[in-house]
Amino acid sequence: MADSVFSNLPAPKPDAILALMGKFRADERAEKIDLGVGVYRDAEGATPVMSSVKAAQEKLVSEEVTKTYVGPTGDKEFNALLAELALGESVEKERVASMQTPGGSGALRVLFELVNEARPGATVWVSNPTWANHIPMLKASGLSTQAYSYFDATSGDVRFDDMLASLNECPQGDVVLLHACCHNPTGANLDLDQWSQVGKLLVERGLLPFFDMAYQGFGDGFDEDAKGMRLVASMVPECVIALSCSKNFAVYRDRVGAAVVVAANSEEATLAMGQMGSIARRSYSMPPNHGAAIVKGVLQDPSLKADWIEELESMRLNMLNLRTSLANELRRLSNSDRFDFLAKHRGMFSRVGLTTEQVDWLRENRAIYMVGDSRINIAGLPADKIEYVASAIIDALANA
Ligand code: LMR
Repeated sequence: MADSVFSNLPAPKPDAILALMGKFRADERAEKIDLGVGVYRDAEGATPVMSSVKAAQEKLVSEEVTKTYVGPTGDKEFNALLAELALGESVEKERVASMQTPGGSGALRVLFELVNEARPGATVWVSNPTWANHIPMLKASGLSTQAYSYFDATSGDVRFDDMLASLNECPQGDVVLLHACCHNPTGANLDLDQWSQVGKLLVERGLLPFFDMAYQGFGDGFDEDAKGMRLVASMVPECVIALSCSKNFAVYRDRVGAAVVVAANSEEATLAMGQMGSIARRSYSMPPNHGAAIVKGVLQDPSLKADWIEELESMRLNMLNLRTSLANELRRLSNSDRFDFLAKHRGMFSRVGLTTEQVDWLRENRAIYMVGDSRINIAGLPADKIEYVASAIIDALANA
């Protein structure tokens, strides 16, 4: 008898972040602390619906008259609003193609496929390290990957000279994947002067910048976080941006994002938009619209938009406080400045700089969950457990 169809399937490769979520859920210890997946949590450990989002949702539910398809490229107004949020006035509007996608991951996948259509098998340079899902997605889209130097695990800083040296080796026409702000997983980011140097190098070497922008508003402020990307966008002839609303509108499960292309001219922008529509059509056909309609509702109503910015800013400041408190506590307990970099990092994440054994030890002995590379989600830190977490880290260093 022939083998059954699925008997030859290889076992799926486990995803480090999702596997950790499963382990955390299964852990019955009451004191467990989840510093794993990148989800914002308030002081009570909840991920609430933002009040502006709730208000826009209620309005939508009462006023919505149809749920017919939005079409493969989504809602035009939403597309324009999202591109403007990210790009501001940095590029001419007629050069921009923007398409609603199922979350930031949907945007990444559409844009990876678009790059592959334009340059089959192109090489995309990713930071070392990068978000765990970038490389699998790039490969599944038919692209090749290489790594550029980025993070110094000892100092917690960006190895900027090494980064420039790596990018200087990239052959013309290659693509460079950059985290627009709040680098995931390290928390170490470029300053504006460094962005300008990167932009210059990208122009000189004829490299295409590909921005992943998933945390706008979680770093130094909403517009502040876009400054580096806007600067580079204003310098280069073309670039692409994958946008996510999951974190800054806290609409994770509603899957809201946009794929944005800044093309050399309006004809190429139209071509890119058409091709992105075809990519959507042959994969998921049309994007979900409920979350995108809510985001549009927030952005189109000045009072809701102001509430949203205010709430986002309070989330950002809360993360910054937690960061500073953890760095202070670690300085006190370790009697050293070894962990001071945590206070300099921005966004949800920081790489603490522990070995896999130390990460495992913390999970097994202190019920503290972090990703295997010692990435922590700062927002997952309960404010009243900072001393507990800091002293557990010190214990792990001594015992594991
Ligand atoms: C993370 O890095 O934890 C988030 O972006 C969630 C995810 O899908 O991995």
